[in-house]
Amino acid sequence: MQEIWVDREDFRKTKIVKFEKPTLEDGDVLVSVDKFGLTANNVSYAVSGKAIGYWGYYPAEDNWGKVPVWAMADIVESKCEGIKAGERIWGFFPMASHVVLKPGQIKRQTFADMAQHRQNLPLFYNQYQRTEAEPEYLKTLEDERCLLFPLFATSFILNDFLEDNDFFEAEQILIGSVSSKTGFGLASFLTQNEKYKGQVVGLTSPGNVDFVKALKCCDQIVVYGDEAQIDTEKPSAFVDMSGNGELVKTLHDHLQDNMVQSIGVGATHWDEKRARGDMPGAKPAFFFAPAQMDKRDKEWGEGMLFQKAFAAGAQLAASIKDIVRVELITGPDDVDQIWKDMLDNKVSARRGIMASLN
Ligand SMILES: NC(=O)c1ccc[n+]([C@@H]2O[C@H](COP(=O)([O-])OP(=O)(O)OC[C@H]3O[C@@H](n4cnc5c(N)ncnc54)[C@H](OP(=O)(O)O)[C@@H]3O)[C@@H](O)[C@H]2O)c1
Repeated sequence: MQEIWVDREDFRKTKIVKFEKPTLEDGDVLVSVDKFGLTANNVSYAVSGKAIGYWGYYPAEDNWGKVPVWAMADIVESKCEGIKAGERIWGFFPMASHVVLKPGQIKRQTFADMAQHRQNLPLFYNQYQRTEAEPEYLKTLEDERCLLFPLFATSFILNDFLEDNDFFEAEQILIGSVSSKTGFGLASFLTQNEKYKGQVVGLTSPGNVDFVKALKCCDQIVVYGDEAQIDTEKPSAFVDMSGNGELVKTLHDHLQDNMVQSIGVGATHWDEKRARGDMPGAKPAFFFAPAQMDKRDKEWGEGMLFQKAFAAGAQLAASIKDIVRVELITGPDDVDQIWKDMLDNKVSARRGIMASLN
């Protein structure tokens, strides 16, 4: 059994750790992690591991951490009443071949990991979906579920948040790092949104222009460095997946008071400096998806926004399957290498990376 550890101060430093099959205590299950999605979002889990607590789900030793991923997994041994060997589950795991969980709050469709060290962490990440009771069609969407749905859900909630605020009266919405799944997901949902009458402007690097063009989700694509091409006459909202401080400042300086809203969502450019100090236009604020989810749960009923996000995500995933090609990387050395390639921006946006240490 094996897992990949990442140095919490230097994400390019990794080690493959082998371990013996653990002995289960009463209440434990041994899980074989079948396959997981890897994107810039997982790099962000490492970047905000300390601040938001992502290192806390599967602690490692000393200065090492285990980066969480969204995965499909199988229960291979059970000492837990109510959970049997052979069940397939989906949820938050480390980059590992196996892991021990302690299921509690067992329901027909879910259970939570009751491991002591996880009890102060948000339930959202502690909960596992039991696939047996799920509709058949979901079983055919395992890769999409790991690789795309968590990101498209955020895109959909962002689209809903913008709509809920009358798009901040913006006539153009600028999306930083639009070639990211979360970025083009938002661009696609905005393009399909009949209530939004403005333009969608995507910012990306030169190498990703053709990819974004193929997605047909932007009215204008602007390459980093060419921000002067953006119309300064239009009130603009900026939704940033890049976290690149220089880009944020350039856009604020360019649009001045016409930057009517500025929302930070991610940091695909994880090793660039963040934006600091006063800038013209709206003050940048961090997007907090759970706040919008809570609001809609109250207005529409529990889980409705998530259900809509799921349906829209499934539709979008189907429409891009010839543009984002899913591939499976197996074995610790190759998975370790793709992690490093991802850190160095060497993975084309056209590649949808699923990985497995089994
Ligand atoms: N706050 C939330 O609730 C939330 C939820 C979901 C996702 N997010 C964030 O949204 C961001 C996008 O995540 P994703 O998984 O959708 O990304 P992704 O699909 O893996 O993004 C790939 C794109 O990111 C840029 N990129 C990737 N690695 C880079 C590197 N090392 N240096 C510079 N640019 C790099 C490139 O885009 P360009 O060339 O276009 O820049 C690349 O095409 C992440 O930071 C993630 O954490 C936040």
